Amino acid sequence: MASSSSSLNEFLVPLLVGIVFSSMVVACAGTFNQDFDLTWGGNRAKIFGGGQLLSLSLDRVSGSGFQSKKEYLFGRIDMQLKLVAGNSAGTVTAYYLSSQGPTHDEIDFEFLGNLSGDPYILHTNIYTQGQGNREQQFHLWFDPTRNFHTYSIIWKPQHIIFLVDKFPIRVFKNAESLGVPFPKNQPMRIYSSLWNADDWATRGGLVKTDWSKAPFTAYYRNFKATEFSSKSASSLSDAAWQSNELDAYGRRRLRWVQKYFMIYNYCNDLKRFPQGLPTECRRSRF
Ligand SMILES: *[C@@H]1O[C@H](CO)[C@@H](O)[C@H](O)[C@H]1NC(C)=O
Repeated sequence: MASSSSSLNEFLVPLLVGIVFSSMVVACAGTFNQDFDLTWGGNRAKIFGGGQLLSLSLDRVSGSGFQSKKEYLFGRIDMQLKLVAGNSAGTVTAYYLSSQGPTHDEIDFEFLGNLSGDPYILHTNIYTQGQGNREQQFHLWFDPTRNFHTYSIIWKPQHIIFLVDKFPIRVFKNAESLGVPFPKNQPMRIYSSLWNADDWATRGGLVKTDWSKAPFTAYYRNFKATEFSSKSASSLSDAAWQSNELDAYGRRRLRWVQKYFMIYNYCNDLKRFPQGLPTECRRSRF
């Protein structure tokens, strides 16, 4: 009796997990008109190409920005960006998820422009309960202004993964068991903006924006949001989620990026944290 019911379980459990899994993934690939609102900068933000392309511009008067109509609580967000070309020093293109209010959560990509031929910096940060200070910065292994490249965020109750062209560049694990808050209760919108930050962005503010090159323009396409509904997420077994974590190839890629392209990691900045590194840094080298 016991053995027959356990063999039934062996059959049913994967079947049920499969059903829950497939029903919780809601992929959405609409148009920019359907998915986003242009929120800042008047006609410096534009949707064109039948809703398949979006651009943001920055001139002397203003930058521009947009935000998603929907809020997301866990999911995978993919977007292709082609960054401001030429002399983009002083400009910052931010692309991030954020909730609202003083205890908001936030998952950030920021692209700090540079003089022609000098590398952009990809700056990342994570805010939990209104507190950030978790910067990691990277150079890229390609010129992000020549072509579109895909920048993705995977946000699950267990971890946040940043990806560039499907290569994981950063993993932030849920360390709530060590007392580190993790974004998991506040839904977030997707935001992007292009603005002037020549007081700090390029070589720490040494290189100023060259307004004779304005307007500066960044382009967006192929937005895709795959939502994991939080209800099914919390009822799923750990195993089902873990199986979606980085495989051996992903871990190798992550190590490669971190070894050759990471230029700053708050977890290595002992000067900044003389009282000791943040708790989540002590746990793993990512
Ligand atoms: C700009 O180029 C300089 C010189 O190569 C480099 O040190 C810096 O990291 C680059 N990026 C920014 C945003 O300053």
